[in-house]
Amino acid sequence: MKLRVFDSEQQAAAACAAHIAEAVRARPSLVLGLPTGRTPLNVYRELVALSARGALDLSRASSFNLDEFFGLVPEDAGSFRAYMERHFFQHVKLPRERIHFLDGSAPDAEAECARYDAELAAAGGLDVVLLGIGGNGHIAFNEPGDSLLAPCHRVKLGRETRLANAGLFGDDPTRVPMEALTLGMGAILQAKRVVLLAFGEGKAEAVAAMVEGPVTPRCPASFLQLHRDAEVWVDPEAGRRVSAQARP
Ligand code: GLP
Repeated sequence: MKLRVFDSEQQAAAACAAHIAEAVRARPSLVLGLPTGRTPLNVYRELVALSARGALDLSRASSFNLDEFFGLVPEDAGSFRAYMERHFFQHVKLPRERIHFLDGSAPDAEAECARYDAELAAAGGLDVVLLGIGGNGHIAFNEPGDSLLAPCHRVKLGRETRLANAGLFGDDPTRVPMEALTLGMGAILQAKRVVLLAFGEGKAEAVAAMVEGPVTPRCPASFLQLHRDAEVWVDPEAGRRVSAQARP
């Protein structure tokens, strides 16, 4: 796992967008894994700007979002699908048929998860997955616990995670769905390249546990230590608890 400390969130986001644009140039049919949350907002903004200037052509690329709230229709304003439309899909020319999403309103969660894993397998898996990290060390919605699951699955969200997502629901944590569907650790760890972004003091503890702590299901992101090509890009605040030895 490689740690890169940028001078600011904005610099990291610009570098991340440039990195993705370069990967798409090298492989136009790139399969991207995409996160939601506050963390990637500037990356999406930069990607939209690159696309508007003709410096990013997503016409042959595919995307798979990492997770979705369970029990919400895709059109619900709080859904991750709606977030992605607002911040990214509406503004770039990624063909609709190559935008992949878990459907939180699917009647049979297990069947929906199996469908998503099968679609991802048919696409050849993720080439580049962009990740954020929860304050509790979760990646996608793989929450800390006694064990982790490899396949796509339905998950009960922890209290902290529901609080962190309240922004999508008018800052009312009681409106955040209790459950979600998420890609499992398998799809993430099988991605060819992982770039995890973390910004701000609130992520410092989770970042240190991920980078230097033991590999444990108590911190799902710590499994990225086992990945061949995983990079963690932080601003100084998110990186401040990482020891000098683990710094570049
Ligand atoms: C959400 C998402 C994750 C995201 C994380 C961090 O719960 N499921 O994919 O990385 O929380 O969110 P934020 O970037 O807003 O801190």
